[in-house]
Amino acid sequence: MEVILTKTYDDMSNAAAQEIARQIRKKPNSVIGLATGSTPLGTYKELIRLHKDEGLDFSKVITFNLDEYLGLSPTHKESYNFFMWDNLFKHVNINPENVHVPQGLVEDAEEFCHWYEDEIKKAGGIDLQLLGIGSDGHIGFNEPGSSFGSRTRVKTLDEQTIKDNARFFDSIDEVPHFAITMGVGTILEARKIVLVASGDNKAPVCVQFIEGPLTSQVTASALQLHPQAIVILDEKASVQLKRKKYYNWIRDNKHTVKKYLDR
Ligand code: GLP
Repeated sequence: MEVILTKTYDDMSNAAAQEIARQIRKKPNSVIGLATGSTPLGTYKELIRLHKDEGLDFSKVITFNLDEYLGLSPTHKESYNFFMWDNLFKHVNINPENVHVPQGLVEDAEEFCHWYEDEIKKAGGIDLQLLGIGSDGHIGFNEPGSSFGSRTRVKTLDEQTIKDNARFFDSIDEVPHFAITMGVGTILEARKIVLVASGDNKAPVCVQFIEGPLTSQVTASALQLHPQAIVILDEKASVQLKRKKYYNWIRDNKHTVKKYLDR
């Protein structure tokens, strides 16, 4: 796991956007996994800027979102479908046919989950998956206890997640209790993973999943098993890390290592 320590929220967002932009430039028809929540907003803002100012081309990009609340229509303003169109898709030249976000109003959710997994496979798998993290350590909506082998399925939300996400709804009673989410196993199959975390409230969970034991009680710790996982934190989210000095040492000596690798 590569841990990148940045100072501000904007630095974190720009670093994540650069990772995604590099992937798209290298492979214009990249399959990108996307996340919602307030943390990736700055990353999407920077991607939009890169599209407008530097011509970053989304026309061949294929996207798969991690999750969606069960029971919300795509037009509901708190649905993740609405969020993605509002904060990214409508501002770039993506082909709507290439966009995949789980649907919250499906008749047969189980069948839909199988279909979603098949679509990811048909697209050739995910090249780069962007993730945020819940305060209970979840990725997507893989709440504590989710198997590391889990696939796209319906998940019951934890009380903590319902409380955390109530800020987006008029009242806590309106927060859905179920969601469709890619599984931890689905996420781990992405060829590259970029997780962003920001703010004091994420500091305790960041030290747990980066430097703590591998446990399904903190599903983000599964990233320790991934060969190409990059974690980008702002200063507030990183305050409890014990090995900060080492992570910065790696950053500062990257060019030296590269010299050896290029020989
Ligand atoms: C939701 C999403 C997650 C996201 C998390 C954190 O639960 N399902 O994908 O990482 O919120 O959100 P925020 O970035 O707003 O803290």
